[in-house]
Amino acid sequence: MKKFLVVGLMLALALSLGVAVQAARPVLRVGSDVTYAPFEFADAKTGEFMGFDIELIRAIGKDMGMEVEIKNTAWDGIIPGLLNGNYDVLISAMTITDERAQAVNFSDPYFTAGQVIVVRNDNKNVKEPKDLKGKVVAVQINTTGDYAAQKVEGVAKISRFNTTPEALQEVVNGAAEAAVIDLPVAKTFMKESPGKVRLAGPSFTVEYYGIAVKKSNEDLLKKVNKALATLKANGTYDKIYEKWFGAGK
Ligand code: ARG
Repeated sequence: MKKFLVVGLMLALALSLGVAVQAARPVLRVGSDVTYAPFEFADAKTGEFMGFDIELIRAIGKDMGMEVEIKNTAWDGIIPGLLNGNYDVLISAMTITDERAQAVNFSDPYFTAGQVIVVRNDNKNVKEPKDLKGKVVAVQINTTGDYAAQKVEGVAKISRFNTTPEALQEVVNGAAEAAVIDLPVAKTFMKESPGKVRLAGPSFTVEYYGIAVKKSNEDLLKKVNKALATLKANGTYDKIYEKWFGAGK
């Protein structure tokens, strides 16, 4: 009898320990199209994922007591991937739009951006969206840049690419007159490939990025928002922001 009790106790202890160990490090699976510097990109040498979003979601995961696992994925299909259960959240410089919000829940906004028109350095034809009339415009497929280009009347052709770097390359090559992309990404490209492209004009939309969570996962959304608020209050958010977008960046 005593023996049984001891074995039973040991078993209970082992079980609870096992559960505790597991519960201490649950994994947050994060989907992101890691081709979007300065938000998410792979270090050229190490292949390590870096950027504002990556650091933010790592800090959020840490605050939630979770281990963060970044899964690189194509932008097109990133929301279906979340809905299929491939990831727990998406962080991918994703603009909160009404249409997307029908499919997923978004966290509180964590970044403000806008669309800009990028042209080749020597281009003098384009200053604002209506100047894209009759021109070929390059975009990343199903981005808000794509949607903005579709709204411009009389665009000759929208060339839609899987990644933003490909769309920008099209402008550099002269195959497209312009690209429509998020301002911070344009700035990073201009810094890293100086002398190739410039901004045709100021940004012409205002957009807010959110972290996407499956609609059924309300508990996780609450936790993400709580962590985000904590990081904003305790200076961690500002530190990450300063690192990627501070003066001189
Ligand atoms: N902000 C834009 C959108 O939501 C572009 C985001 C693209 N993000 C990326 N990681 N490729 O449509």
